[in-house]
Amino acid sequence: MTSLLPRPRLVLAGEGAVTWRSPLRVRVAPVLAEALDVFAEDLAAAVGWAVDVVDDSAPADLEIMLNERLGAEAYCLRVEDVTRVEAAGAAGASYALTTLRQLGPDELWGRAGQLERWRVPRVSVEDEPRFAWRGAHLDVARHFFDVATILRFVELLAAHRLNRLHLHLNDDQGWRVEIPGWPRLTQRGAQRRSSPVGHESEGRDDGLAHGGYFSAEDLAHLREYARRRHVMIVPEIDLPGHAQAAIAAYPELGCTSEPVEVWTRWGISEHVLNVEPVAFAFATDALSHVARLFPESPVHIGGDECPTSEWQASLAARRVMHEHGFSDVRQLQGLFTTRLAQVLHSLGHEVLAWDEVLDADVPAGTVIVAWRHADKGLEAARRGLDVIMAPMQWLYLDWLNSDRPDEPVAIAPPPAVTTWQRVYQFVVVPPELEAELVARVRGAQAQLWTEYIATREHLDYMAFPRLSAFSEVVWGTAGELDEFEGRLRTHLGRLDAMGVAYRRLDE
Ligand code: ACM
Repeated sequence: MTSLLPRPRLVLAGEGAVTWRSPLRVRVAPVLAEALDVFAEDLAAAVGWAVDVVDDSAPADLEIMLNERLGAEAYCLRVEDVTRVEAAGAAGASYALTTLRQLGPDELWGRAGQLERWRVPRVSVEDEPRFAWRGAHLDVARHFFDVATILRFVELLAAHRLNRLHLHLNDDQGWRVEIPGWPRLTQRGAQRRSSPVGHESEGRDDGLAHGGYFSAEDLAHLREYARRRHVMIVPEIDLPGHAQAAIAAYPELGCTSEPVEVWTRWGISEHVLNVEPVAFAFATDALSHVARLFPESPVHIGGDECPTSEWQASLAARRVMHEHGFSDVRQLQGLFTTRLAQVLHSLGHEVLAWDEVLDADVPAGTVIVAWRHADKGLEAARRGLDVIMAPMQWLYLDWLNSDRPDEPVAIAPPPAVTTWQRVYQFVVVPPELEAELVARVRGAQAQLWTEYIATREHLDYMAFPRLSAFSEVVWGTAGELDEFEGRLRTHLGRLDAMGVAYRRLDE
């Protein structure tokens, strides 16, 4: 019981335990029925148990009731002779059932196991997250991960009550989503002929084709699976930099007439979108399409690491600067931010962007994902913008897990190290932020860039247990490291049951 993770806000231990057997008899408020359906599917898959939904007249082991006085994601759980869950909505009810499952044996997190009896300790839990945005980011452009791998990743996020999956759908090294009217994006842009071996700086290549992309049906399936587990998928189309794969597919989107291929090196390509009508038409089509695929989600327009050398050398770009009275070539990026935000706002979507967009015009309402430093989050909040904290020094899980020489190659050498202990000590709201701006911080997000992550096992190794630590930080209940470590060690049994190839803790 002490091993609940992320730790709930309030846990009061009672005396003894109740014993459950299959079939579990459950009474549920109709509006919360989907939370029970998902729990029942998980229970059936894990240990073959059945759930019988009973009406008011029959005895029940568990009641799941509506309490509209609670917050949107809050829940109460009281394990008694008749265990009672209360929530104002399906998210809270799901979180209660996740906590309940953590009160049971590890088998409940596995597949096709056996469980005769489930002894649930009597306990009372009152819980609610501090932050609404509890995110993980996954780059499917540098290495493509298939639908099955992403469904499983969503399941792992849900197990930690994380509620956003930011999918980075394109980069210099690959375009990963079909866009109607632009077929070559996936015919050409979704494949590269080679990738670096070892660290990029060694200059070696594997000579192996790598590729893949998602259809609209794939993404609809992901969205629905994630929605049932209260994980919102947030699509990103990264523009106007990181665009070499798009330019390889459609050279007219680039700034020079020179043809380029989908990039085979890591890093930041100099090839960026031009600032002519064709590039804005393309960006509008791509973003509008992903917006329609994810009707409830904000849409991320990228905006990071956009080199300006090609704009500087381009007569067409200079003409556009002149038309707008721009004195600095950086201001051209503001055109993308402003126009694309307008498109997305008109479709009813909120807009997210990496913090570099702060270097030019940013429309009101843009949510800044602060990655270069927490200071960028402070700057955004002080400029009246909402913020998601994602500073690389704490929350980039493509950084090394430790400074041990036997760590697999990662994006950078030490001191670019993010141990799980460091992640756990991340403070979401910078203490220097003015009290009246604290509400601008919607939460935080951990990033998984995949230049050096090519397999599901390696993804597990980089993600866990750091995401477990992060989940408690962003739930808002992180405390002492030693106390957490004890719970984490127990939690690793659940990850083992789920088949997660996490990084072992150092002894
Ligand atoms: C980033 O890491 N380029 C957002």
